[in-house]
Amino acid sequence: MIKPPNLVPVIAIDGPTASGKGTIAQRVALALGWHVLDSGALYRLAAWLVLDRNADANDIDQVALLARRMDVKFEGTQTFMSGVDVTELIRQEHVGNLASRLAPHAALREALLDRQRAFRVLPGLVADGRDMGTVVFPDAPLKIFLTADVHARTARRCHQLRERGEFPDEKAVFLDLQMRDERDMQRTVAPLKPAVDAHALDSSTLTVDQTVDHVLALWRALPANLIGKN
Ligand code: DC
Repeated sequence: MIKPPNLVPVIAIDGPTASGKGTIAQRVALALGWHVLDSGALYRLAAWLVLDRNADANDIDQVALLARRMDVKFEGTQTFMSGVDVTELIRQEHVGNLASRLAPHAALREALLDRQRAFRVLPGLVADGRDMGTVVFPDAPLKIFLTADVHARTARRCHQLRERGEFPDEKAVFLDLQMRDERDMQRTVAPLKPAVDAHALDSSTLTVDQTVDHVLALWRALPANLIGKN
């Protein structure tokens, strides 16, 4: 039987670590009055839970089960796990690193799939991650592949860390980003890569406002008869 098309519009924004996807997704969602999905937060939450429970990160079935059952709530910019505010905790570098090590496993990705798709509700969704356009929302009417060169991303990540009161070692941040890119792109399941119908957008020399305007212009330029477009 042919599945009817999903009428809820999605803008998928994929790209490497620290490319600015999160900020751009939030801002585009705000401009359109849509919902937002930070899919990386789900991988970070799974990683945090593994650490918090002292679970065996190598036991992927157990990790997937924990991820399937985790009690997560997003409220504005805050993230709660079983009622506890974990917004800052899941942003720690070691949590991101474990998320990146767990993310290649198909069982974990499968466990998080329905949870991600459940964010697709009216009036629309802006979803950011690595496989939004290729796997999670392959029918998204607009797909963006947001990049920035590794030096620009290193500078942005160091700036973020300093704002949090940390003292980042630039060389270590640079090497860490390169390692994560490599891992995200080389994995066999849902690797980081542009969907065939994605628009590539290099934000290395663009401001946040310019990047947001570009995405909104692409959305507005889509044919008016496009399903669900408001
Ligand atoms: O975007 P982020 O850095 O918060 O994501 C944390 C990790 O989760 C990242 O190393 C890759 C992984 N991830 C993924 O594999 N697929 C996604 N859709 C989002 C994140």
